[in-house]
Amino acid sequence: MSEKLQRAREFELLESGKIPVGQKPDFHFCSPVGWINDPNGFSCFRGEYHLFFQYHPYSTKWGPMHWGHAKTKDFISWELLPCAMAPDEEWDGQGCFSGSALEDGGRQILLYTGVRESEEGGKRLVSQTQCVAFGDGRDFIKSEKNPAICPDLLPEDSDRKEFRDPKIWKEGSRFYAVVGNKTKDDCGQAVLFSSEDVENWAFETVLERGKREEGRMWECPDFFPLDGRQVLIASPQFMEAKGLEFHNGNGTIYLVGSYDSETHEFRRIVPEARAIDYDPDFYAPQTLLTPDGRRVMIGWMKSWDNDLTPEGFSWCGFMTITRELHLKGDKLYQLPVRELENYYGKAVETGPVVVEGGSFVYGRDPLPVPSEEKGLEIPGIRGRQFDMTVWVKAGDYRRFEIDLAADDSHKTMLYYEPGSSALTFDRTWSGGQIHDTVSSRSCYVASRGGEIELRIVMDRYGVEVFVNGGEQAMSCLTYTDEKADRIRFGSQGRAEFEAAWRELKIE
Ligand code: FRU
Repeated sequence: MSEKLQRAREFELLESGKIPVGQKPDFHFCSPVGWINDPNGFSCFRGEYHLFFQYHPYSTKWGPMHWGHAKTKDFISWELLPCAMAPDEEWDGQGCFSGSALEDGGRQILLYTGVRESEEGGKRLVSQTQCVAFGDGRDFIKSEKNPAICPDLLPEDSDRKEFRDPKIWKEGSRFYAVVGNKTKDDCGQAVLFSSEDVENWAFETVLERGKREEGRMWECPDFFPLDGRQVLIASPQFMEAKGLEFHNGNGTIYLVGSYDSETHEFRRIVPEARAIDYDPDFYAPQTLLTPDGRRVMIGWMKSWDNDLTPEGFSWCGFMTITRELHLKGDKLYQLPVRELENYYGKAVETGPVVVEGGSFVYGRDPLPVPSEEKGLEIPGIRGRQFDMTVWVKAGDYRRFEIDLAADDSHKTMLYYEPGSSALTFDRTWSGGQIHDTVSSRSCYVASRGGEIELRIVMDRYGVEVFVNGGEQAMSCLTYTDEKADRIRFGSQGRAEFEAAWRELKIE
């Protein structure tokens, strides 16, 4: 083991033990200590699910990338494993960037981007190549044949510097990997390579080239069959905002198409790229196929442009809940993995409730507002770790609002306005933010005859919203004082709703 890896393993063991119990979310995978970003190597190995991640243990800021490592049997309870890789070789000395993993022949194969910096004639050169490591579920040996995929294999009109984040899979006896890249004139693209043995690769084709407005560089691609179609996922940098979509700078998109595995031709069936999540805190998702045939996805629950980590925390970043994916009429649907239900504790079912007034007044400066205007609280519905579904009936209300993480002067708002069909997550009044940051995001919601369904999964600082059975998802952070644990309902006009609330208890 290299000194760098040894040091990281010792550091994480010692320092993660110092983090106060209860400071982290319970069922979302979190940074052990220091910084994490993209999920990597999300895969099955010997009957368990492994998750690796971009990792800089030594500070809560991005730095020379290591691969951290954890595993789980059910996507809810996570076991931390020792750091898997450090940037300790000539070809990855400036970072082990994102990549993927696969079980094959009893081995765990990692395919990742090695970043190398050098100087030539006073000029700083950065190279990104795809590299291989073999492991047993805990320890990894980098291949001596690295780098395995070099950018000189790319077609002439492709950029040779930005070339990263391979996602590997196997078809028959051949390995394939889709890698993120861009054209010389700054359009994102996903490029396909294949190999007999994972150490020698050949260029196959450009799977898909993005339109100008679909970002300049496609990071972290994923490519898989789903419900009779083929889905290409990418996280494009510098997206152009469109309507309510892509307001996060770097977005995440999915393309739905068909794929001919003989000719390696991917064709869009849906012409436009769609947002996977309406953020503000979602990026670089990765999927795996479970042995029982579910395509599940996990994402980084943060965005590059928001940094809300409270001062004094020695860890930064966590992942979304793992989500089951489906296509319905060419639209991506996502819901939390069903394993979450095994952790339900107390339950409250409200039956029909009418609310009129309250809550929305927070949008009016200054705080605080008189308590009778704060909205309706329902006995038992409270807390920061729960799974709650709210059905809002058709009606002539103008706005229906759910306040989370609320106390006398703060709240994190989720509200729906039927006039514009927009659902908004808003942390303008949530408290706890350390500096100005993206505070609100909205998405259009299709009501079903006037009714909408909102499923909210909260885990201390993370809120995930799934609309109408998963037609839209929003991933949002709210790093506020945990004592703010009230949940309130309010409306402009008379609204009728029902709620089913489940406590989530992770021992
Ligand atoms: C995406 C990304 C990847 C890269 C990694 C570096 O968030 O920029 O493209 O491999 O993060 O940490």
